[in-house]
Amino acid sequence: MCGIVGILGRGPVVGQLVASLERLEYRGYDSAGVATLEGLRIERRRAEGKLRNLAERLHRQPLSGHIGIGHTRWATHGRPTERNAHPHATENVAVVHNGIIENFRELRAELEQNGAHFSSETDTEVVAHLVESYLMNGYSPQHAVQASVLRLHGAFALVFLFKGHDDLLIGARKGSPLAIGHGNGETYLGSDAIALAPLTDSIAYLEDGDWAVLTRTTCVIHDADGTIVHRETSKSGASSLLVDKANYRHFMAKEIHEQPMVAGQTLAHYVDIGAERVALPLTLPFNFNSIQRISITACGTASYAGYIAKYWFERLARLPVEIDVASEFRYREAPLRKGDLAIVISQSGETADTLAALRYAKSQGLHTISVVNVQTSTIARESESVLPTLAGPEIGVASTKAFICQLVVMAALALAAGKERDKLHEIDESKLVRELIEVPRLIAAALLIEPQIEKLARHVAKSSDVLYLGRGTSAPLAMEGALKLKEISYIHSEGYAAGELKHGPIALIDETVPVVVIAPYDAVFGKTVSNMQEVAARGGNIILITDAKGASEATVDTLMTIVMPDMGGSFTPMVYAIPVQLLAYHTAVVMGTDVDQPRNLAKSVTVE
Ligand code: AGP
Repeated sequence: MCGIVGILGRGPVVGQLVASLERLEYRGYDSAGVATLEGLRIERRRAEGKLRNLAERLHRQPLSGHIGIGHTRWATHGRPTERNAHPHATENVAVVHNGIIENFRELRAELEQNGAHFSSETDTEVVAHLVESYLMNGYSPQHAVQASVLRLHGAFALVFLFKGHDDLLIGARKGSPLAIGHGNGETYLGSDAIALAPLTDSIAYLEDGDWAVLTRTTCVIHDADGTIVHRETSKSGASSLLVDKANYRHFMAKEIHEQPMVAGQTLAHYVDIGAERVALPLTLPFNFNSIQRISITACGTASYAGYIAKYWFERLARLPVEIDVASEFRYREAPLRKGDLAIVISQSGETADTLAALRYAKSQGLHTISVVNVQTSTIARESESVLPTLAGPEIGVASTKAFICQLVVMAALALAAGKERDKLHEIDESKLVRELIEVPRLIAAALLIEPQIEKLARHVAKSSDVLYLGRGTSAPLAMEGALKLKEISYIHSEGYAAGELKHGPIALIDETVPVVVIAPYDAVFGKTVSNMQEVAARGGNIILITDAKGASEATVDTLMTIVMPDMGGSFTPMVYAIPVQLLAYHTAVVMGTDVDQPRNLAKSVTVE
């Protein structure tokens, strides 16, 4: 996934392009580049690595054009080098692209046969040469783009700049998001409203198959058939303020510490604290008594939030739940019942796999709810109902506060389902809501263990393999903990249901392998103690995360026991996530990795 932007300005645009790219770095940061019209010629500046490298290049070799395009890249085809950095260009056209052109090899072979010379390994460069070939055959820029996009298979959001046309940008969208911004005598194109927020809040979104022809004062949108269509312009809520790290070293640290506040904000949106009752912010267009099964689908951390919620729906609402990673959901052809419910969870609301799963569920006639943090996102716009997480902008690639808020929303939804299905009596509802109301305070209390975790991280940082174990809702939390550690420290780690250890993973255990056991004292705590004894018997180093009762009952030596605040047993992952987040963070700091923008990753994966 990548971030793209185009600006038709009344003055020099390169500074605005870089400012927009700064807001798009969450989509990828392998390389960045801009192209402007200097006089009537296309000029490019590109740089490998972070956006600051491009800014340095531009400082040395400035551009002054009043029209331009920009790109920040997460490499799909071709290594993250300057040669593969966008914009890609021919003599007469430059293009930036988010997505994957699946038939680029055949097109490249055809174009090379007709004399085109390529300079990169990317799929995107094919698009530039394809448009060039039509221009060379007398097509206008509009018709060259229209003809070209009809030949592209895959997903794309494209923005084109043309030599000799200093009042023309063309954008095209199929499968990857593209927004149009309207300014005062200026127009813009960008991957999302966040990118355009410093320029305008007047935003329209292209739909799949659309292509748009922009001048500084006009905007004509065509659908795939070429018919002129209207797309609603609305006020975007995206903040023009660039989120900063305040006094934290990394965004991830700031966002971990924001969790008491954002969990409380989200909670207040979903429960009536005074009445101790669940109170969803909207009336759902179905009754839970008509639902026979819920399909929950998401990716990565969001999928673990969904997996945890499965236990809550099944326990509190007696509703069967299937959980799928989104990339599998749409292809396994699960038998879905029309009128059942699909819940998709996504921080960014732009994850291609999750969007595809949502579209599949809709095609099967399911009701759809999206739990998203970006309410202007594609997934939000395409869902029947939206339940927002109020985590605020999450910049760190490793999702933390959004995860906690996803759990809060899903817990409230499970309570609402249980209530509507008469599986939850008022006294139970009140008790469970009181447990939820305690969560922000408990998260704040859990954050106080940070010094202990920081010390532990120095030990974990020496490891090459780490296991995370848990039972019940702590099992998916163990998987989330492993994901956190591996994605920012690059240490291999896996999360398992603790009972699974003896069915294979125990072969990994020796004195070099830390085993993080997430185990609040509960009905199965004794079984988890047995698992820890199996680990200890093989020299494994146990890190036990439990409460005071668990610490007193755990008859096994540990490398460290982290004692969490006492809490009700229903929603423990919302609080026990804190130590696993902190452990990943501090281990990555010890390792010296790029905590907020880890290698090979991006914040939003908008390609399948
Ligand atoms: C989480 O720390 C990862 N960055 C990643 O797994 C992420 O959760 C996943 O890509 C889903 O993103 P989304 O919530 O924006 O859909």
